[in-house]
Amino acid sequence: MAQFNRYIITAALPYANGPVHIGHLAGCYLPADIYVRYLRAKKADVKFVCGTDEHGVPITIKAMKEGVTPQDVVDKYHKLIGDSFAAMGISFDIFSRTSNPIHHQTSQEFFLKMYNDGLFEEKETEQYFDPEKNVFLADRYIIGTCPKCGNDKAYGDQCERCGSSLSPDELINPHSALSDAVPVKKKTKHWYMPLQHYEPWLKEWILEGHKEWKNNVYGQCKSWLDNGLQSRAMTRDSNWGIKVPLPDAEGKVLYVWFDAPIGYISATKELTDNWEDYWCKEDTKLVHFIGKDNIVFHCIIFPAMLKAHGGFVVPDNVPANEFLNIEGEKVSTSRNWAVWVNDYIQDFPDQQDVLRYVLCSTAPETKDNDFTWKDFQDRNNNELVSIFGNFVNRAMVLMHKLCGGKVPRLHESFMDESDREMLKEFGVAKEKIKNSLESYRFREALAEVIEFSRKGNQYLQKNEPWILASILEKLNNNEKHSKYPQYE
Ligand code: 2FM
Ligand code: ZN
Repeated sequence: MAQFNRYIITAALPYANGPVHIGHLAGCYLPADIYVRYLRAKKADVKFVCGTDEHGVPITIKAMKEGVTPQDVVDKYHKLIGDSFAAMGISFDIFSRTSNPIHHQTSQEFFLKMYNDGLFEEKETEQYFDPEKNVFLADRYIIGTCPKCGNDKAYGDQCERCGSSLSPDELINPHSALSDAVPVKKKTKHWYMPLQHYEPWLKEWILEGHKEWKNNVYGQCKSWLDNGLQSRAMTRDSNWGIKVPLPDAEGKVLYVWFDAPIGYISATKELTDNWEDYWCKEDTKLVHFIGKDNIVFHCIIFPAMLKAHGGFVVPDNVPANEFLNIEGEKVSTSRNWAVWVNDYIQDFPDQQDVLRYVLCSTAPETKDNDFTWKDFQDRNNNELVSIFGNFVNRAMVLMHKLCGGKVPRLHESFMDESDREMLKEFGVAKEKIKNSLESYRFREALAEVIEFSRKGNQYLQKNEPWILASILEKLNNNEKHSKYPQYE
């Protein structure tokens, strides 16, 4: 197994076009934070980077709908999202943003290096264009009737009623989601990355080299690779984004999925002068924490970009989670069906650990999972408070009463069989928790913490050290507990 001397841990850059909800926390940010805290506890050399993804169609659409500028939108949500993460104790080393000049420069240099190495194909194609709004339309922003099921609100990329994958050409009566106008086709030139050229390397690297990746991640990669990759445009027509750094590219910007993952690199640059240690040295472990909808971008497209550019490490793991539903229904921004993190913080100030506990213990690690308020209450009352909280509280109170507030030295001669058994359990639990954390099984790690606390409670119940504590208290009356074994 490779020996790693430093870690770069990334958490998906959320779009700065809305607040984050608890599904985001459970799927990506909380597991990333737990992993990073574990690494820091081991005194590992680790950088934890994130920031807001501030380009792409979702931002411009939001701005258009609200009658404000895209800059207004990203400024508002960068702050709101950053504050939510901070309040939830997500301990990034940097929470940057892709509108920063350092990111524009890094992305343009990345693109230019690939361009100068002849790694793009230049192609002219016809794309849908909204003649009223004067913008090219991403597939998602063309609405029409599904040819398969007749749903008249199908999107240009997918019908949500029957689940069919569609292309805008297949829609009956297509119209723009922005203006209702009938889209027209217009010629436009773009720079494509021939992903098929990287297929042999990707197959070797993922399918042969990373069989340990989570089933959901490995499975999605395998299916993409088995179906064969195709050239993908790395530029778009827009006036919002990072300008394509070529002379004949007026009105063209980098594809948001080209620039966003480079954001991990630019955030590291912003954080530290020795950023290259974290991105270019082979003994660095790069881990991307993401939700399942980002798998192809982090396992196939970005690694292919890193490989094409050259000189960068590629991810060692991409432990993507599935989705968290709310009370049995999928999260829906348009129907406002979500638990927004900023709302939670307002409604439950100082209860961040409860949410962290519940979200970790029900995290959708292997399949979609459900969040319910009843379960939130039960887990808080029956696990976090009565088992873990009780154990920690008893241990602390007794340590203060019996041991002068310090962890006592171990006295072998005072130990009986149950003490030795408990200590052994402690070692076993520590190993199990360590293994679970290192394999990105955070639910399992937390369950072991609870199991260990349960055993600790039983041990205390059986030994009843509080009886000794109260006798000592009476005996010593106002004296210090200095007669009891010496403490360090
Ligand atoms: O799905 C999303 O919210 C994207 N903004 C994630 C980007 S991750 C990375 F590539 F920056
Ligand atoms: Zn349909």
